[in-house]
Amino acid sequence: MDKPQTILVVDPETDFLEWVQHQLGSATTKVITATTSDQGFQAFCREMPDVLLAETRLSPFSGLDLLVKVRQRDPNAVVVLMSGFGTTQSVIESMKLGAFDFIRKETLPFTLKVVINAALEAQAEMKTATTHKPQLTVEEHQDSIVGKSVAMQQVFKMVGRVAHSEAPVMITGESGTGKELVARAIHHYSGRNTKAFVAINCAAIPEQLLESELFGHEKGAFTGAVGMRVGRFEQSHGGTLFLDEIGDMPLALQGKILRVLQDGEFSRVGGNVTLKADVRIVAATNKNLEQEVAKRTFREDLFYRLNVVRVQLPPLRQRLEDVRLLAEYFLQKVAVQKLLPRLQLSEEALRVLEAHSWPGNVRELENTIQRACVLATSDLLTPRDIPFGPGEASATTGGTAAVASAAVAQTTESAIAVLLKAAQSTPDVQLLPWLEREFTLYAMKATKGNQVRAAKLLGITRATLRKRIERFGITKELTIT
Ligand SMILES: Nc1ncnc2c1ncn2[C@@H]1O[C@H](COP(=O)(O)OP(=O)(O)OP(=O)(O)O)[C@@H](O)[C@H]1O
Ligand SMILES: [Mg+2]
Repeated sequence: MDKPQTILVVDPETDFLEWVQHQLGSATTKVITATTSDQGFQAFCREMPDVLLAETRLSPFSGLDLLVKVRQRDPNAVVVLMSGFGTTQSVIESMKLGAFDFIRKETLPFTLKVVINAALEAQAEMKTATTHKPQLTVEEHQDSIVGKSVAMQQVFKMVGRVAHSEAPVMITGESGTGKELVARAIHHYSGRNTKAFVAINCAAIPEQLLESELFGHEKGAFTGAVGMRVGRFEQSHGGTLFLDEIGDMPLALQGKILRVLQDGEFSRVGGNVTLKADVRIVAATNKNLEQEVAKRTFREDLFYRLNVVRVQLPPLRQRLEDVRLLAEYFLQKVAVQKLLPRLQLSEEALRVLEAHSWPGNVRELENTIQRACVLATSDLLTPRDIPFGPGEASATTGGTAAVASAAVAQTTESAIAVLLKAAQSTPDVQLLPWLEREFTLYAMKATKGNQVRAAKLLGITRATLRKRIERFGITKELTIT
């Protein structure tokens, strides 16, 4: 009979190790265990197991460090990491550092055997394949893409796998699903992260200007081109260029983009010198590009060039299990960014959020949480604190609500529009005094009557704030309802 396969499992919990032993151990499979990363590494060097399964939270050094050490020792080591906390960062880092797979612990009863069998097969294949050097960089990064759904875990794994390659990436998904966030993550985890990440929204720039935005122009290239201008391609030399809403790029420009993709060459508008840029392209669209290609509004050759790696972001309604985690994350984010107190969500409020279909996806959830925090009347958010619908709707519910909506509006224009609409529906309004009163009231509500923080939010001194409170007749009851 063949030599038994060996699996090394490293986890601090002995109960867990026993369970894995029971699941995987057999006449043909030997399971050895260790409870610390030190012992795990020694066992690895001694036994050279076929597969290493390790928890990320280990001491004295982490599972990720163990992965790095093990792969330094044997670049072909097949390592599966697992965690009960599976942060985005650890999933991306693990895949980038060459882990074979990453499993969330709660899925282990269903996935353990499948993943380990796949890992054993990969190891068997590896024995005949050529070796490659692992990439060994470890970066610090705030955990800013949240998601525990299977679909999002796939996205994180993909980001980890493609970050280091130079291949163009195409990110698709509905509006508000996190395409830009993923584009930034790809740059952040790539070898280009010390150079610029430059984003350009192809849909937001008029066609005549887009070419000069992308490629720059020479002095006098067209009326108004008073000086030479460097374009986004040149700006992102050595870094990443994010072509957002690529589906809206005019056909004429698509050909020029193709040329840069093929041989890195382009010219400034009005210039006849050929320039070169070393740029990694990440593109995104919420259009169905296959359909655009069929309609001949998108060049087929460019499509195939860009579509080398595809990251598809699922709409939030198809991963409602992420709503809870995202809601918690945004509660924390809003507290930190907007100087508001950290609120709690009641179970009932969470259920309301989980039952919603989120046509605006994660962005809509983020805005909903922000508005809820601003308008909340206690530290615990209940279903009646959850304001659904577009910002404008709450303009009719009073000035403070309008200010709250404006505070979370996407653009200054829409913030002003919300405020004006609310002002117009108030009889005999004098715009500026009205705004001043509503802003003061808003700040007092948002800070639960904390004058120091309210003054800070408004950018005035506490003494000035006191005067306004008096002048506007703002009482405690108005502030803390
Ligand atoms: N998984 C996530 N975790 C945390 N925040 C997220 C996540 N997905 C999206 N967001 C947040 O939601 C908002 C919208 O994300 P983003 O701008 O990346 O979406 P998009 O797909 O580019 O949308 P659009 O097509 O409208 O441009 C951002 O504030 C982003 O930070
Ligand atoms: Mg976007």
